[in-house]
Amino acid sequence: MKSTKNLDQLYRSVIMDHYKTPRNKGVIEKSSVTVDMNNPTCGDVIHLTMIVEDDIVQDAKFEGEGCSISMASASMMTQMIKGKSVEDALKLAQTISEIMLGNEYDKSIDLGDVEALSGVAKFPARIKCATLAWKAMEKGVGPDSE
Ligand code: FES
Repeated sequence: MKSTKNLDQLYRSVIMDHYKTPRNKGVIEKSSVTVDMNNPTCGDVIHLTMIVEDDIVQDAKFEGEGCSISMASASMMTQMIKGKSVEDALKLAQTISEIMLGNEYDKSIDLGDVEALSGVAKFPARIKCATLAWKAMEKGVGPDSE
């Protein structure tokens, strides 16, 4: 079993990898969903474009200005939701929220690299950084969209 220190280091290196080499950076010209959202606590922004067809997220890209956690989280988010049903993408966003709040969550869900964000829960001031991209996605495809 890994020690907490090693786990923190692993999480940090996964976050830095996504920050330095972001997946799905850019803009989808013919997107079906476009969302701009900012983090009110710092003013950092994300511009998210997606193609959603037949309730499946076919593609997702992002651009933005933000700290390493927010941009790494956006990279992870786009990577995770591509090819997923809207329902599963929203379930994942809900799981991230539960992790950040320190609540119980469905451990059967495959979090992939997103697990690295769980360490952020220890730093309340950074939670909005970690959830920015997920909130943007929820706004774009969730029940309150349109
Ligand atoms: Fe602005 Fe993290 S400090 S999103």
